Amino acid sequence: MDFLCPSSALAEGSSRVFDIDGMSLLGVRRHGKVYLYRNRCPHRGIALNWQEHTVLDASASLIQCAHHGALFLIESGECVAGPCEGETLQALGCEENARGIWLTA
Ligand code: FES
Repeated sequence: MDFLCPSSALAEGSSRVFDIDGMSLLGVRRHGKVYLYRNRCPHRGIALNWQEHTVLDASASLIQCAHHGALFLIESGECVAGPCEGETLQALGCEENARGIWLTA
């Protein structure tokens, strides 16, 4: 398992970008649960964030691509609006324990 961050570094309703072995990942915590995806928009294959760790829309209820505004459900990664509607972010396995948040697959 690869260590991502301490639990306190991913607060409720916030996102974080990680670089693991040259691959960019994004994590979001919603209703206490952590969701992890590859940080790669299905539209152009580029990272979603524009600021260091920001991949959420203004309401913090959807993941948003900074480039052309595609919106994704946090729970499934499905694109529900924008140029890649119907496609999904690549989900990655993660686990949270007393030591923090980990990439599992
Ligand atoms: S690259 Fe994400 S919406 Fe265009």
